[in-house]
Amino acid sequence: MLASASRFSPRLELRPFRRRDLDGLVEAAADSIADLNKWLPWAHAAYGRRDALIFLRDSVSAWGEGRAFDFAVRYLENPGYHVGNVSVWFVSRQSRVGEVGYWIRSSETRKGVATEAAARILEVAFEELDLHRVVLRIAVGNHGSERVAEKLGFTREGLLREELQVNGEWMDHSVWGLLEKEYRAMKTQYANAGWVMPA
Ligand SMILES: CC(C)(COP(=O)(O)OP(=O)(O)OC[C@H]1O[C@@H](n2cnc3c(N)ncnc32)[C@H](O)[C@@H]1OP(=O)(O)O)[C@@H](O)C(=O)NCCC(=O)NCCS
Repeated sequence: MLASASRFSPRLELRPFRRRDLDGLVEAAADSIADLNKWLPWAHAAYGRRDALIFLRDSVSAWGEGRAFDFAVRYLENPGYHVGNVSVWFVSRQSRVGEVGYWIRSSETRKGVATEAAARILEVAFEELDLHRVVLRIAVGNHGSERVAEKLGFTREGLLREELQVNGEWMDHSVWGLLEKEYRAMKTQYANAGWVMPA
């Protein structure tokens, strides 16, 4: 079982969600909805408290069941301000494959937050969950997320046609993979770039 505690990176705290995160989460999602709903099926235009409450409840039970691990992303110097979400979940326990997802509040993009939060969750994926392979699924055209994947050393492996429906339209997704041995080879680079704490 994954310890239900915060993880830290040079600038960020990644903290498991709790019920009192509701207002901050709703506010961050509302501020970002125009960017989120281009790519993420859950982020409909009227996303509000009810949706966020369902997410929080599911997040707590998924953690308890060891199914999925969502983290609230916060700046160390401003821990009350919701900056985004980053998650890792199992795709196949038997084959030790997991998937990572993230979103960053629109006012905080282009500051390296997604890269740093994703690098930190890859430590969780490979070192705590003992995964062998992690995948990202990225909608075609989402250049910001593709760049995050490239920076972290993922390989673009192929195209999933009409994988998800967003705003009523089926969207193709590229699938990106990172193997444990590739992650281990990248770790010094992650630390040198300031995305994770030095070993
Ligand atoms: C995509 C997203 C996660 C990027 O977050 P971010 O915190 O801005 O990412 P970073 O600051 O770590 O940037 C990483 C790289 O992507 C680039 N980048 C960020 N947004 C970009 C965009 N919209 N277009 C092109 N490049 C972009 C950055 O310049 C940086 O590259 P560089 O170091 O070569 O300059 C964020 O915009 C977001 O949450 N979007 C909506 C939800 C979403 O798409 N989630 C991911 C689903 S797979």
